[in-house]
Amino acid sequence: MERKGIILAGGQGTRLHPSTISVSKQLMPVFDKPMIYYPLSVLMTAGIKDILIITTPHDQNAFKHLLQDGKRWGINIEYAVQPSPDGLAQALIIAEGFLNGAPSALILGDNLFFGIPFTQSILKANQRKNGATIFGYEVKNPSDYGVVGFDGNGNVKSIIEKPLTPASNYAVTGLYFYDKYASKYAKQVKPSMRGELEITALNEIYLKAGQLNVELLKSGTTWLDTGTHRSLLQAAQFVSVIEERQGKRICCPEVIAYENKWINRTQLANLAKSLEISGYGKYLFKVLARRQT
Ligand code: TTP
Repeated sequence: MERKGIILAGGQGTRLHPSTISVSKQLMPVFDKPMIYYPLSVLMTAGIKDILIITTPHDQNAFKHLLQDGKRWGINIEYAVQPSPDGLAQALIIAEGFLNGAPSALILGDNLFFGIPFTQSILKANQRKNGATIFGYEVKNPSDYGVVGFDGNGNVKSIIEKPLTPASNYAVTGLYFYDKYASKYAKQVKPSMRGELEITALNEIYLKAGQLNVELLKSGTTWLDTGTHRSLLQAAQFVSVIEERQGKRICCPEVIAYENKWINRTQLANLAKSLEISGYGKYLFKVLARRQT
């Protein structure tokens, strides 16, 4: 069965209040596009066409307005709600019916990944049929994240959520590839001290079974989360700098759909026309002009 994607885009976004009181964090712009375009691009780059978007009940309509059913991008988008933010692992329980026995890739709606080495890593993880793959990224503040500990042979030994004394500088990023058992295992997870179904607890089940792979993301990969005012601004600046320098926009679902041959030139032209006034639409026309096939 083909791997299916899940974007977890609920939560309260309290660190971005008051901006996120009436608008979901994942709909806030990161420079020239809504935040959710970035995780969506990751799944599409991995070749995943069947995607479930999990939101709060009150934000669901806004996501539907923006993304619709995905057909215009050659993909299938479905929606589900998470009534309250009870933890990341709950996504796999909510998605059980949608997955229907398929392997999955779960990505957090506020994570931005970019870079050729990253694309290679996710394509490799996508090929793994058994177990789970998480992605480690070297950061200077590992204590803010789940942290990977290694044994002498470089195999993963532990994952500790927000440790005071981190075993390494490798943070666990918000992207997780699972085999078909993830929903079943997620139901075995008990709420943590803070009352959440922790993704670390689900990953520990795979670890104990000797089924957890850790891909260390190579330098040349960018991983940013966008949960605070400063990190949101920095992410926007990053996108702006890269796009300005290269004259190319990054993480555009329309372009990825076209490159994957999920939509043809006419379909891309129609999408460009619908956004003609904005620089975004003009860029889609530029992509069409640059490629003749
Ligand atoms: P967080 O940044 O941990 O939480 P949040 O988005 O609610 O923000 P804040 O801490 O400022 O209140 O969440 C990371 C991502 O996971 C984000 O995209 C929201 C999503 N999420 C859910 O959808 N459901 C959940 O139960 C949790 C914990 C997070």
